[in-house]
Amino acid sequence: MTDPDLLSSQRHLFDMPRDVAWMNCGYMSPLMNAVVAAGDAGIRRKAQPWSLTPPDFFSESEDTRALFGRIVNADAGNIAIVPSASYGIAVAAANLPVAPGQEIVVLEDQFPSNVYSWRRKAEESGGKVRTVTRAEASGPNGAIDWTSALLAAIGDATAIVAVPNCLWTDGSLVDLVRIGEAARRNGAALVLDLTQSAGAMPFDVAAVQPDFAVAATYKWLLGPYSLGFLYVAPHRQTGRPLEDGWITRAGAQDFARLVDYQDDYEPGARRYDMGERSNFHLMPMAAAALTQILDWGVERISRTLGARNRTIVERAAGLGFTAPPEDFRAPHFLGLRHAGGIPATLLDTLKDRQVFVSVRGDSIRVTPHLYNDDGDVERFFAALEAVLA
Ligand SMILES: Cc1ncc(COP(=O)(O)O)c(C=O)c1O
Repeated sequence: MTDPDLLSSQRHLFDMPRDVAWMNCGYMSPLMNAVVAAGDAGIRRKAQPWSLTPPDFFSESEDTRALFGRIVNADAGNIAIVPSASYGIAVAAANLPVAPGQEIVVLEDQFPSNVYSWRRKAEESGGKVRTVTRAEASGPNGAIDWTSALLAAIGDATAIVAVPNCLWTDGSLVDLVRIGEAARRNGAALVLDLTQSAGAMPFDVAAVQPDFAVAATYKWLLGPYSLGFLYVAPHRQTGRPLEDGWITRAGAQDFARLVDYQDDYEPGARRYDMGERSNFHLMPMAAAALTQILDWGVERISRTLGARNRTIVERAAGLGFTAPPEDFRAPHFLGLRHAGGIPATLLDTLKDRQVFVSVRGDSIRVTPHLYNDDGDVERFFAALEAVLA
């Protein structure tokens, strides 16, 4: 890759042996050395709690909220701290109305953390889940055109549209600006699971206007497991949190007066924070990862990964693999299909050669990040050729 706008491989920032080709960020990212160091330092502070002060419970959370806010173009006050995508979706489900007969629109094969809450919501409210199928979305040249299919499905009966920016199995894309417009036109709420896209693909809450948008940090945000962020639109910030802990209540900074029980909350989205959100090792890890992502720039990350994947698609075509057309897939995310199907031995053979990808449905899911380099791509193709030989 010689385009000066693209980032060179950042492998030196990670602890990755030369003979490992980890092209599986859609499963889990490795951690940068700086992120590991931040986590180590955090654990050491808990080992010596006299080094932790009451303001530490607040200031790091605020700083990290602000960093994630910059990824999605939101103020810190619009960001809640959550442990997982499922928690963020549960907050949304608890705070959005569905009338009997109304629909909650999701995609076929959507990640379960953005499905089960909606099934329960539908059951409890007398509404129903409307699943937009792959067949409805089927476009030319193997494209899955979720956007057109969603636009056809969203209407008077829609209460909530709950979708990702790209599908976790094959990276097939949803145009969230257009879906946001359609949702608003029909009086429906928009809930997003950005776990497979935030940090790797530009996203702007001002353009999309979701009601809620969550992302777990352990994939494309290059952060730790068990942490995530939930954007909450200002008009949804007076709702009911899942938990009633102390730290989200007004005046929680004054540890001496916590039993002056408060009905009021801290302002903005903070009321939806999980209990013990001031996690002294996970929070600094997330902050270190987000700082580096912002330094690279999401737009630039996206273009770099897009260029990497384009070369993979071209070369894979020579082995009989196809990927969805570029307009219909996220740049950072590849689902490669093969006319002969995916051999059952594929993952094991690749793993024997220390090449790591995933198989989801009938696709090989190839999800490289900046830690990959041309050497990894060579190893991937050498392994693939060996499987197909
Ligand atoms: C689209 C998507 N959302 C969410 C998750 C993780 O969900 P949770 O944070 O609820 O474990 C994954 C994990 O693969 C995912 O692919």
